Amino acid sequence: CLWVRNLRLKRRLPGPFAWPVVGNVMQLGQMPHITFTKLAKKYGSVYQIRLGCSDIVVLNGDRAIRQALIQHSTEFAGRPNFVSFQMISGGRSVTFTNYSKQWKAHRKIAQTSLRAFSSANSKTKKSFEQHVTAEAMELVQGFLRHSADGRYFYPAHELTVAAANIMCALCFGRRYGHDDLEFRTMLKRMSKFGETVGAGSLVDVMPWLQSFPNPVRSVYENFKNLNKEFFAFVTDKVVQHRESFNPNVTRDMSDAIISVVEHGKDSGLTKEFVEATVTDLIGAGQDTMSTAMQWIVLLLVKYPDMQAKLQELLDKVVGPDRLPSIEDRRSLPYLDAFIYETMRFTSFVPVTIPHSTTSDVTIEGLHIPKETVVFINQWSVNHDPLKWKDPHIFDPTRFLDENGALDKDIANSVMIFSTGKRRCIGNQIAKVQVFLFTAVLLHQCSFDSNPSKPLTLDCSYGLALKPLRFCISAKLRGKLLGLA
Ligand code: HEM
Repeated sequence: CLWVRNLRLKRRLPGPFAWPVVGNVMQLGQMPHITFTKLAKKYGSVYQIRLGCSDIVVLNGDRAIRQALIQHSTEFAGRPNFVSFQMISGGRSVTFTNYSKQWKAHRKIAQTSLRAFSSANSKTKKSFEQHVTAEAMELVQGFLRHSADGRYFYPAHELTVAAANIMCALCFGRRYGHDDLEFRTMLKRMSKFGETVGAGSLVDVMPWLQSFPNPVRSVYENFKNLNKEFFAFVTDKVVQHRESFNPNVTRDMSDAIISVVEHGKDSGLTKEFVEATVTDLIGAGQDTMSTAMQWIVLLLVKYPDMQAKLQELLDKVVGPDRLPSIEDRRSLPYLDAFIYETMRFTSFVPVTIPHSTTSDVTIEGLHIPKETVVFINQWSVNHDPLKWKDPHIFDPTRFLDENGALDKDIANSVMIFSTGKRRCIGNQIAKVQVFLFTAVLLHQCSFDSNPSKPLTLDCSYGLALKPLRFCISAKLRGKLLGLA
């Protein structure tokens, strides 16, 4: 029974004392990943906490996390059956569904379709690059408009629209204007998504909070509504695609997914999984990417010397007469280093989406029973002082070797896309997008912040750590370029 199971779990794993009813909720603090890292110093890299009525195992540090997610990949590939997870993508999400044969088929379809429209061959790579560059140039023009007469503005919403537009271009073959109020409002609401599904969110571990009015219940109600609204937006586009579907012409990713799920042999999925897959991909690709770019822009204005150095390198490698392209990447190792250091330093997805164990498993000599919720503290990997010198300092050069080239081993040891069976499927396209966005923005503009408002690196906690509101101003460098 559950009680005996909990008792066994309690005996075998170290961890702090858990209070009745709330468990360790009061100890989590504003930044749970920092609390988890502190607790690891006391209890070791694998320990247990209790949040409300859920016993949760927290994994910290490179060794324990890789041991779990790579050596025991199947055992750690589950997701908990949280109520909030069932509200996402019409209850058929690939991201928030437990490990099963159907989930494997679903993930494969999502992965293959994404690859087919971004990196399958040189033609798709080029077309993806063009989408991203075009969107980056829209952003440049928007930034310059907002900066007219030396004004300062908050860039988060523009970055969100740009990131969402890239996914809409891939999935629907169309983009939305930055002044499309309906689209902007929906995206603004979606940016609250991570408040509910981040590790340490209370709605799923304290279900009784849903039965009387309180702030947690309203977060939960909001979450339900924003998912409904977003799913309806995507479903409407997928239905239009279904009605005009021609098996001989694959216009975009929606068509590709319709083709595999509805017209392929034995996909194992019903047609409702098409809208769920598209919703997942747009949702996953939008908020994370926008957050990544918010941090990049903030760090560029925080460290103007690094910004100037990057621009000098872009001028040397690219010159004033064309826009940067993905081929320039190998000649711009310092830019890649700046991006990797942004990911490491901010660790803006500090804890992955919660996992759960699919069977009993032993890790670092500790027994974890089947169906235990597991939090994976990526932040602790990126801030481990044994692995990184002065981890609290922002220093891109830590990724460069003595010849100034990018050290791929060090770069690959940053953990932000997770690893193992649940690792992010957008990893490659995210890196291409961040590189191109950053390169185009820096090539075309210089950025600064309002000197009368000191910049902070403080952030809000959720599935993604987001910088607090900050304002910038952009100035055109040289001439405004068009697309080739
Ligand atoms: C899952 C990070 C961009 C699609 C994840 C996870 C993380 C992550 C940490 C959870 C892994 C786990 O639970 O162990 C990021 C970051 C991004 C990014 C930092 C941008 C910088 C994208 C993009 C897409 C995408 C652009 C797709 C277009 C997904 C999907 C999953 C996922 C579908 C669920 C995988 C599963 O549960 O099997 N991502 N992601 N992500 N990501 Fe990303």
